[in-house]
Amino acid sequence: MTGDQIIIFDTTLRDGEQSPGCSMNTREKLEVARALVDLGVDVIEAGFPIASPGDFESVSQIAEKFGDRTTICALARSREDDISRAKAALVSAQNRRIHVFLATSAIHMEFKLRMDKQQIIERAVSSVKSAKEFCDDIEFSPEDAARTELDFLCEVVEKTIAAGATTVNIPDTVGYATPNHYFKVISYLKQNVPNISRAVISAHCHDDLGLAVANSLAAVEAGARQIECTINGLGERAGNAALEEVVMAIRTRADYYGVHTKINTQRLYPTSHLVSTITGMKVQRNKAIVGQNAFAHEAGIHQHGMLQERSTYEIMRPADVGYVGQNLVLGKHSGRHAFRDRVIQLGFSLDDAAIQRAFDDFIALADKKKEVYDSDILALIENRLSDAADRWRLVSFHTSAGSSAIPTATLELQCEDQPVLCDAAIGDGPIDAVFKAMERIMELSARLEEFDVRSVSEGKDAQGEVRVTIDVSGRHFQGKGVSTDIIEASAHAYLKALNKADHERRSADAARLSPQT
Ligand code: KIV
Ligand code: ZN
Repeated sequence: MTGDQIIIFDTTLRDGEQSPGCSMNTREKLEVARALVDLGVDVIEAGFPIASPGDFESVSQIAEKFGDRTTICALARSREDDISRAKAALVSAQNRRIHVFLATSAIHMEFKLRMDKQQIIERAVSSVKSAKEFCDDIEFSPEDAARTELDFLCEVVEKTIAAGATTVNIPDTVGYATPNHYFKVISYLKQNVPNISRAVISAHCHDDLGLAVANSLAAVEAGARQIECTINGLGERAGNAALEEVVMAIRTRADYYGVHTKINTQRLYPTSHLVSTITGMKVQRNKAIVGQNAFAHEAGIHQHGMLQERSTYEIMRPADVGYVGQNLVLGKHSGRHAFRDRVIQLGFSLDDAAIQRAFDDFIALADKKKEVYDSDILALIENRLSDAADRWRLVSFHTSAGSSAIPTATLELQCEDQPVLCDAAIGDGPIDAVFKAMERIMELSARLEEFDVRSVSEGKDAQGEVRVTIDVSGRHFQGKGVSTDIIEASAHAYLKALNKADHERRSADAARLSPQT
């Protein structure tokens, strides 16, 4: 790394996953980890191994599969049992990092930890030393640093660096900082911590005031050389700094910041889509960099300028972020070869079996709609990727409804390779009836919290994308489904969300049966 390279530390799988309803299973986390490796992130924070057996398992598998291509990081509180769980999860990673944290703000010390300053320093130092016995690359975070008394923050940072921390992360845990304030905190550390040059300073900003990206960039100006961020800004409450925004700001304004990242920016759009599909968390249309409207020029005066010279209204080229527009690509008679080439151009590396499945889906879709767009192909592939982890699949459905009929649905579902189960239900409408029949078969009871429909591309025959959020016993799960038939898309979305709830129910049952794991 050179002095002008910014380390991109992705925490989608740890801080991002803490976002309500966004939990992912191991298979999904591996899928996201693969995309992050292809994107070129320097560090993947893969999880918090002590949190659950599932978290431990996913960190271990990510460490094993990708630990030779990027650094895999595991989070631990400043407690011996947390740290040893992190060590165990990371054993097979060639490049590994333990991230230890302990709160340092007066409010956290008094009400959460009930520890005084001396105790905090001792605990932080001993934790860093313990982690250091396992690997060289150690990150320490004084949690709630942005609200920590500055001289105490300097003392903690100095002592943890002396104990072996190679990265000191300065979290704005509650999204309280503003750009100039955060700039001053980082500058103060640079000026007042004697051994600060022995560690990389890192920014970790939450978006409660909508300032996470601005604060992260202010930290870079003050000398931070690592930014912690998540795809689509996923994360608790208002989320974390959005990776795609940070990266494109640094790239587009290289003239101003004078730094760079190693991110392959053309993978930003597909990675954003993948994370949105897997978590079910929608990306708002006008979201910077990866929103559907990010490159749309509707106003006449803008269009006129664009036709003369793109740079009049465009500061980034859509292709730079891997944007997939409405370009018509294939039709019913396009062969398997043309389809495969297009999939590769869209940035996917699928094996032969996956290409074949996607091609079969494409042929089925091309039969239903005349024109197939890139966005349709993206939706088909993502649908298959996120299906892979599900136990239950939709075999068939039939609905009847009308102004004078009672809306009814008959459904066939199959759980793994068990016999197909069939049931029927009535509802307020055909979609409600499908949802009710599904719950009966899966023996799960859910409350529908959100239901959202949009079209994937243009035209009356466009595919519809449905997203749902459900509440099962106080836990939130999201799902997405795509089809030219809205009822079918709704069924897939609801089944996806119920599959997640089913997965959690089974993990809880397994943990109850074997409490020692
Ligand atoms: O926001 C925060 O303080 C965190 C720490 C664990 C780094 O996520
Ligand atoms: Zn955080």
